[in-house]
Amino acid sequence: MAVRKLRSLNNTMLARSLFRRTLLAPSNAAAFSASPMADVKKVGVIGLGLMGHGVAQTAMQAGFDVVGLETDPAFLQNGTNLIEGSLKKVHSRAVKKGKATQEEADAGFAADFGRFEGVTDVGALADCDLIIEAIVEDYGVKNPLYATLGELCKPSTVFATNTSSLSVTQMGDASGRPENMIGLHFFNPVQMMKLVEVVRTEHTSDAAFQLGHEYCKAIGKVSISCKDTPGFVVNRLLVPYIAQAQLMVERGDATAEDVDIAMRLGTGHPMGPIHLGDYVGHDTCKFILEGWVKNFPEEPNFVVPDILLKLNAAGRLGRKSGEGFYKWENTADTAPSGPGAPIE
Ligand code: CAA
Ligand code: NAD
Repeated sequence: MAVRKLRSLNNTMLARSLFRRTLLAPSNAAAFSASPMADVKKVGVIGLGLMGHGVAQTAMQAGFDVVGLETDPAFLQNGTNLIEGSLKKVHSRAVKKGKATQEEADAGFAADFGRFEGVTDVGALADCDLIIEAIVEDYGVKNPLYATLGELCKPSTVFATNTSSLSVTQMGDASGRPENMIGLHFFNPVQMMKLVEVVRTEHTSDAAFQLGHEYCKAIGKVSISCKDTPGFVVNRLLVPYIAQAQLMVERGDATAEDVDIAMRLGTGHPMGPIHLGDYVGHDTCKFILEGWVKNFPEEPNFVVPDILLKLNAAGRLGRKSGEGFYKWENTADTAPSGPGAPIE
């Protein structure tokens, strides 16, 4: 209930603050009513993996109806299980902390989870107001999806990619509706990390950009504005740092465990960089770094460590596969269970 009230309060404030801005907006203004957020009731989430299931959960907890799309029934079941398990955890934590009775927690879980509809047919997204895409970090897969969405969705639908490193502009072009395209870059784990980077391309309309920021507020996140540059703000700094840490281990300068202890205890980071690479997923790290090396060969900070390629070749993707530099017992864990096997 409290979340619904918060959302309605946000909408009222937004209606006031956006009214003038929307009146002044250029040609795209016709696609929205006075407040772009007032029109957002149904959120589509594409890809219910590591990131997408958290994006879906946060939307449901804020009172939005969510349509979650996966490629096939098995992946859909997996994503649905992730959302269900994570929501149960939140509500049972509230009981343990004395913030809710068991009955309130059960009702809260049922209300949140009741807002979710899982689908494998992209056609079910046609009437979504906002679509957040969190599929594999590959233009070859993302761009055809945006072309389909551009053909399929109602004219006012705003498209948001959760890409870590790719050009939002390219996806907007692929959709045929570049003015409706933004980046909404969430952080892992979505449920716990407060920040979202809202990315604006040269073609993004004022209304779509504003909607991105206001959506973040509505789900309880803090948003910052970014241009469409590689890695935006956080990953431009973070990914080269993770790669440098892996190079250190590759050269034998220090062990994985010692690098992590150093950065946790020496700089107060919650996770060291080797741990964080396992947590993010080495497939995602490889996609990011290889794409940057190819597209920005003049940038000396973009390098692909051999040890990262070896991990990928061995299927050791980190937490999601059960082993990376470390061993992981459970895909929902935030800490590994022990050291991994030597990396050959
Ligand atoms: N759903 C919602 N909330 C949840 C939850 C869930 N499934 N599980 C836990 N929470 C809430 C808990 O309720 C808890 O809040 P309360 O204390 O009020 O109960 C809060 O989250 C913290 O939970 P934990 O105590 O379990 O978490 P922790 O203190 O051990 O911290 C961590 C875990 C947040 C992951 C922390 O280790 C951390 O910040 N690590 C760094 C993560 C990071 O750097 N992420 C960015 C990766 S880079 C990226 O994402 C970008 C990219 O493109 C690659
Ligand atoms: P993931 O592999 O865990 O999940 C991707 C999901 O998308 C899979 O379940 C897959 O079945 C599904 N999928 C693939 N193609 C699809 C399609 N055409 N239609 C519907 N579903 C499809 O990946 P992830 O780590 O969640 O990353 C997703 C995106 O989020 C990437 O762009 C990544 O760069 C970005 N991202 C990742 C992190 C991270 O820490 N892993 C952080 C921020 C952003």
